[in-house]
Amino acid sequence: MKIAFIGGGAMGEAMVKCLLTKKVAAPQDMAVSDISPLRRELLSREYGVSTLADNRKAVTNVDLILLAVKPQNLPRVMEEIKGLALEQLVLSIVAGATLSSLCQGLNHSSVIRAMPNMPAQIGEGMTIWTATAETEQRQKELAQTVLGALGKEIYVTDEKYLAMATALSGSGPAYVFLFIEALVDAGVHIGLPRDMAQELVIQTILGSICTVEKTGKHPADLRNMVTSPGGTTTEALHQLEKGGFRSLLLEAVAAAYKKAERL
Ligand SMILES: NC(=O)c1ccc[n+]([C@@H]2O[C@H](COP(=O)([O-])OP(=O)(O)OC[C@H]3O[C@@H](n4cnc5c(N)ncnc54)[C@H](OP(=O)(O)O)[C@@H]3O)[C@@H](O)[C@H]2O)c1
Repeated sequence: MKIAFIGGGAMGEAMVKCLLTKKVAAPQDMAVSDISPLRRELLSREYGVSTLADNRKAVTNVDLILLAVKPQNLPRVMEEIKGLALEQLVLSIVAGATLSSLCQGLNHSSVIRAMPNMPAQIGEGMTIWTATAETEQRQKELAQTVLGALGKEIYVTDEKYLAMATALSGSGPAYVFLFIEALVDAGVHIGLPRDMAQELVIQTILGSICTVEKTGKHPADLRNMVTSPGGTTTEALHQLEKGGFRSLLLEAVAAAYKKAERL
């Protein structure tokens, strides 16, 4: 399988790295086209992939074209490679670029749209993806293998879920990083050394996630197990509820969704 990446930035690099680590592709199977000489130099040095500055050249004689440029650079890229993607499958991770705009911009029908998230950079991502009706089953299987190398993936038949997932799993790592940061700061506020507070918080979050996964119990049931009547946890939960923690999260995700739909 020959893959051409258009855009070798943070996500392009993450994908190259994951495909190599999971042995889905070898360095000689991948070419990265990027306008930045620095990125081209780094990618060929670090991963042994071939790099080039010509998007048109990059997409010839490959099985998969992976679009990983910023949304504002997509129109120019599509203009350049329009009509060159003949038999190839095109997979776009560009936020907000719909299947219909991609098909129209590329004059091509075998198109997959995916929304990975930032932990894909360490192979622990969550990707949601969809495909045009014209995409063949073998092409979907190819996309599933590629996206599976980034972590977990979910295929959906309805494109409407992409904007929703953008608000939840796409932006989600930022919410979680903020939560971690705030919790560590709270630990420091009550007198814990910062490195100790960080270790306590990270293992607590990791342990809580594993507990949800392994027990299969509802998070509310698990929360009740930690909340003794008249104890310390209920004091903290009372403050969180008073501050609107739950509804604030709901409003934050709803605002991100509204924005994702407008992109
Ligand atoms: N980062 C995330 O967590 C994340 C998650 C989900 C989806 N995405 C999507 O993934 C896409 C890439 O994001 P990213 O964070 O990897 O962006 P990035 O780091 O800016 O990478 C994009 C790369 O493409 C290069 N480029 C710009 N115009 C080009 C052109 N015409 N031809 C070839 N290369 C070109 C850029 O060079 P210059 O820097 O010199 O312009 C840069 O090296 C975005 O559309 C984003 O919506 C990102």
